[in-house]
Order: sequence, then C-alpha cells, then structure tokens
Amino acid sequence: MKKVLSLFLALAVLTPVLPSLHAQESGKKETELETAMGKMNGAFRKLRRQITDASKNADSLDLVAKLRAAADESTKLIPALAAEKPEAERAAFVAAYKKQMQQFMASLAPLEAALKANDNAAAEKFVTELDGQKKKGHKEFKKPDEKKS
Ligand code: HEM
Repeated sequence: MKKVLSLFLALAVLTPVLPSLHAQESGKKETELETAMGKMNGAFRKLRRQITDASKNADSLDLVAKLRAAADESTKLIPALAAEKPEAERAAFVAAYKKQMQQFMASLAPLEAALKANDNAAAEKFVTELDGQKKKGHKEFKKPDEKKS
C-alpha cells in the first residue's frame, strides 16, 4: 500500500514537468516565430484545399484575414537563423526578412479582391504565387534543418 502511495505521489509531482523535460531532451523548443508560422500554415493549408470552391469564398476570406494577422505577427519577430549570421551581416539579414514578409502581406490584397469578385481562377493563381513566396522565404531565412515545410 505504501509503495502504491509513493508511486502515486511521484507521478503527481512529475507529471506537470514531464512535457518540458521532454522538450529539453529533444533540444527542440518552439520559437515564437515557429508558433506564428504554425498559424499561417493552418490557414494556408485549408485555403489551398478550397480555393477553387466559390461556395466557400466567405470562409476563404476569413482564412486570408487569419493569414494576414499571423503574417503581421511574424514580421515583428526575428528568424532563429539571424543569431548564426556574423554580426556585420545580421541587420541586413533581418531587414531582408522583414521586407519579404511585407511583400507577402501585400500579395494578400489581390487574392482578397479575387475572392470578393468570385473569380476563383484568379484566386487560385494568387495562392500558387503565395506558395512560391513561402518556399523562397524558407530557402533564404529558415535554418537548414527546418527547411522541409
Ligand atoms: C503561406 C506562407 C507560409 C507558411 C504556411 C509558412 C509555414 C511555416 C512553417 C510550418 C514553419 C515551421 C514551423 C515549425 O517548425 O514549427 C515555418 C518556419 C519559418 N518560416 Fe514560414 N511560412 C510561410 C511563409 C514564410 C515567409 C514568406 C517567410 C520569410 C519571408 C517565412 C520564414 C520562415 C522562417 C524564418 C521560419 C523559421 C522559424 C524561426 O526561425 O524561428 N515563412 N514557416
């Protein structure tokens, strides 16, 4: 009985700290930018799936708004790769990242206009362009081991 009780107590004490221990163990703590990018990913994946479906344009406009909010959040953050750049190059690297994020956000306006006009063929084209910008952004600003998505 005593054994069961101490096991129970040990579990009660350890359970809350286990997730953080696990994160430290795998050496992977999500950056703030990864969290913001994760939000962009959720909205963008759904948007891509339904972009040709005009009956979902109101919802698609909602997703574009979510994408914009998360992109705005991302623009204010700094890529982890910046810390690995020589100090003399760091400011230019961060400025280039912010500029590209701003370009990405500007590209959401024509997509929004196409959805409002129920022009889903044009909207599909703009989404493909955004995907290209995503790939370019990741190639230039993401750490190499995170380049999969
Ligand atoms: C539709 C557009 C985009 C989507 C869906 C997207 C999605 C993602 C995802 C899923 C991650 C990985 C998060 C994780 O590992 O938990 C990520 C990371 C990252 N993305 Fe994007 N991304 C987009 C556009 C961009 C653009 C335009 C840029 C740059 C101008 C960019 C720069 C980065 C960087 C630098 C990281 C690494 C995070 C860090 O350094 O902490 N992304 N993105």
